[in-house]
Amino acid sequence: MPGDLDLRRLRGRLKGCLIGFQTLFYASVPSTMDVARRKAEEGAPEGTVVLADQQTRGRGRFRRRWVSPPGTNLYLSIILRPTVDELRLLNMATSLAVVRAIRSTAGLAATIKWPNDVRLRELKVGGILIDSALSNGQMRWTIVGVGINVNLDPAEHPEIASIATSLAKEAGHPVSRMEVLAAFLEELNVLYETLRSREALAKEWKSFLDTLGKTIQVRIGKRIERGVAQDVDEAGNLVLVRSDGSIATLAAGEVTLQS
Ligand code: BTN
Repeated sequence: MPGDLDLRRLRGRLKGCLIGFQTLFYASVPSTMDVARRKAEEGAPEGTVVLADQQTRGRGRFRRRWVSPPGTNLYLSIILRPTVDELRLLNMATSLAVVRAIRSTAGLAATIKWPNDVRLRELKVGGILIDSALSNGQMRWTIVGVGINVNLDPAEHPEIASIATSLAKEAGHPVSRMEVLAAFLEELNVLYETLRSREALAKEWKSFLDTLGKTIQVRIGKRIERGVAQDVDEAGNLVLVRSDGSIATLAAGEVTLQS
């Protein structure tokens, strides 16, 4: 394990916590999502974190590649077993935990682009990918994948250079992966326990959304909706007002800003 990611120290910080107390570290994996899924199928306890220094086939939403070089960033997948109802709120809890961790460790004013891109100066710094498996209406497992660009130099990766940034680039100095990871897991532990107080969760999450009030286009599979992002409800759904005044309530989608 690279010196800056000290698992023993992490365990010390997370004593008594559900999420992250058991963390499995890998120097290089294709994707932490696949390792976590396998562990979940084998019955790994809820809260187990799969952490990797490098991913050779890291993936993002919409089957995009997630740039995952070694020694720079955070790539982790968390095994959880929320109820089906709680699953809807997990996206909010996770992006909020990332924002809180970035603000407290790097002092940077991160925001959220709906539904769950974490951004700095409107450039992507973190992403969340959630996979889950149900059987007979019961949750078998949920994997929450989180990638945070900590010390990445986006200029070295032309495919994301114009749309992404990192904590180090924005702060102007290297940032400790360990501090960001520990702070994120601490925040997520708190938020996961309080998932049921959805009103407070939605209120804080909404305060960091940089999408509201903007004219946007949302792609939901093959369907495209256009309008003004007016609000989000307590479940994190986006309330979009179309040009004819009608309302679309959207649970997920890919947002692009319209000029
Ligand atoms: C997004 O497209 O915004 C989501 C990106 C999620 C990336 C993380 S990195 C750790 C985990 N393993 C993956 O392959 N993807 C997620």
